[in-house]
Amino acid sequence: MERNEFIKSLGLGIALVCTGSCMSGCGGSKSDDPAPGGGGGGGGGGGNTNTKVNIDLASQLLSVGSFATVSGVLFVRLATGNAASSFTATQATCPHQGGALNWIAASNLIQCALHSSQYTAGGAILKQPNDGGSTAALKVYSLAVSGTTLTATLS
Ligand code: FES
Repeated sequence: MERNEFIKSLGLGIALVCTGSCMSGCGGSKSDDPAPGGGGGGGGGGGNTNTKVNIDLASQLLSVGSFATVSGVLFVRLATGNAASSFTATQATCPHQGGALNWIAASNLIQCALHSSQYTAGGAILKQPNDGGSTAALKVYSLAVSGTTLTATLS
């Protein structure tokens, strides 16, 4: 009988210790609950991450009329100097069927290598594709110059 009483009292003690531990653990969780719940909208806060594409003016686009394609951006030098206004940057693939776009300096326009659609330096359509289809104006990207780095921001 004494052993049983001892075991019972020991069991009760362990139960109290466990309960206390659980209560404090649960209490902590409860106090934290509002934060994760209230912060549920935070996941969408990543927001606008504009992609930037750079080109080094120390080695590329050295002469007026030169162009280069980097990471899907067609960069064209329209004038001398390294101001942003000396350049244009558009998407490098044609909206019609994805043909490669090139700058035709002699004609001062962008032309598609696939169906010969043509665009202004500002991306406006000059000529529709020669296959009877239709294209859309080009995306034109904002430009900034820092040192000898020309940066197009894709938004
Ligand atoms: S893909 Fe450019 S005109 Fe057809």
